[in-house]
Amino acid sequence: MIEFNSVSYQYPDGALALNNVSLRIKDGAFVAILGKNGAGKTTFVKCINGLIKPTKGSVIVDHLNTRNESVAQMAKRVGLVFQNSDNQLFASSVKDELDFSLKNVGIPETEREETIDETLRTLNLTGFKEKSPFLLSGGERKRVAFASLICMDQNIFIADEPTQGQDEIQRKNIELLLQKMQEKRKTVIVITHDVDFITRLATRVLIFDEGRIMIDGSVDDMFKSSRVLDLIHVQPTQELMLKWLLQEKGITASRPFSLDQEALVATIVDKIKVKKVNVN
Ligand SMILES: Nc1ncnc2c1ncn2[C@@H]1O[C@H](COP(=O)(O)OP(=O)(O)OP(=O)(O)O)[C@@H](O)[C@H]1O
Ligand SMILES: [Mg+2]
Repeated sequence: MIEFNSVSYQYPDGALALNNVSLRIKDGAFVAILGKNGAGKTTFVKCINGLIKPTKGSVIVDHLNTRNESVAQMAKRVGLVFQNSDNQLFASSVKDELDFSLKNVGIPETEREETIDETLRTLNLTGFKEKSPFLLSGGERKRVAFASLICMDQNIFIADEPTQGQDEIQRKNIELLLQKMQEKRKTVIVITHDVDFITRLATRVLIFDEGRIMIDGSVDDMFKSSRVLDLIHVQPTQELMLKWLLQEKGITASRPFSLDQEALVATIVDKIKVKKVNVN
């Protein structure tokens, strides 16, 4: 369980990034966090892994007050993939990056190699094992950061924009990995603007605005209409738009909503009326 009790955080230069936030996140929840740039999302998740200690209020993770725990201690429970992986990676090879994480959580050397190979395989990174993370592409680096966290198998896993910079194959793969975590009853928190992804996986959506939680609800509540997405400047998916249009006609589509492209095209072709326009 994660608990925020009246948490505020002010950066040293005076920016109030979190303003009196209170909430509880139950074990096994899959929470999606959305909000405009600068809304406080990254600051919020950094409070969960103890990188940021609140200036007011308290954050309790599995009965531990983050104020009293070191970042290393919190890292055993909470994995956080940073928004910018350049701030996360430091080792001279991909293998060493994962090895360091595993050593940190007390995995003996004899077991580390196997876990490293297995994790790199799941993230399509096998060929990069001996390479420096700094010689990889942005998308590959993000996956190395992801790998260096999931190999520790913590109970709480947080990813700040995990699909940013990933092509479609890697995006699907990351979605699958997060889904597996959900099946293992881990708590997953994802900051993302990827609505498609949220509608498939999330059980709860938090919308941040100016350091506060503006809306807290289920995916179905959140995406009933375009209202919420308009507020945070996020473009709805085609599936959602179609769902809303059908709703207006009294047809309720279930979730996950999928488009049968061929049926859709057949319907459109059937309905199109060619208007004759006189051009003189
Ligand atoms: N290191 C910092 N020092 C001072 N102010 C900061 C710092 N990091 C963030 N802020 C400020 O705190 C507020 C919240 O920032 P935060 O990074 O949490 O937003 P965010 O919702 O993650 O935004 P984005 O979608 O752009 O990633 C913003 O006003 C930002 O300018
Ligand atoms: Mg951010």
